[in-house]
Amino acid sequence: MATNITFHPGSISASERLELLKQKGITIWLTGLSASGKSTIACALEQTLLHQGKFTYRLDGDNIRFGLNKDLGFDEDSHVENVRRIGEVAKLFCDANCFTIVAFISPYHRCRQTVRELHTKANLGFVEIFVDAPLSVAEQRDPKGLYKKARSGEIKDFTGISAPYEPPENPDIHIRTDECDVTQAVTTITEYLASHGYL
Ligand code: PPS
Repeated sequence: MATNITFHPGSISASERLELLKQKGITIWLTGLSASGKSTIACALEQTLLHQGKFTYRLDGDNIRFGLNKDLGFDEDSHVENVRRIGEVAKLFCDANCFTIVAFISPYHRCRQTVRELHTKANLGFVEIFVDAPLSVAEQRDPKGLYKKARSGEIKDFTGISAPYEPPENPDIHIRTDECDVTQAVTTITEYLASHGYL
């Protein structure tokens, strides 16, 4: 635990930054089972927003586990720490006025709620998107063969099979990826961003 530290505010206010950059940041948090479509939607959304000239960056669970979070596994404490860290990173990107797209399973409701509160307290935008595919559909897709390994016991603590996934009860956006395609999903999100003053 760090002690004797002092927060050092910058000399540019949030409103000045907004005026200079002409873009308000928001964290776009995609939660859902493995193979629900989070990364696919995140990539397509990133492409769309960048082509509209928006400062955008994507944080993907798998990718971040190659670097920043390479010390974490898939037990409950690791999931909690994984989401805590990435919530803090997303907050920084958001504070830099970035459209920050986060695609993490983030299985625990309380962790997602904590990240939302982190943003709200800092007066930063946050939208929770439930990327929803029934377990049976995700398992049938199984693009990385992980469900098969989880069913055979080769992978322990696999979310949805041998570890919990707590679906959002009241997400800002609910996308059923067994009922809509990627283009429709991206349109739903950009319409939300437009109606909330971000686009
Ligand atoms: S979490 O739940 O937010 O901490 O997970 P995340 O950082 O998004 O990482 C999920 C990706 O890790 C791979 N993987 C596993 N997922 C869940 N449970 C277990 N045991 C596991 N082992 C490896 C998997 O590829 C997940 O990626 P996605 O894109 O969700 O399929």
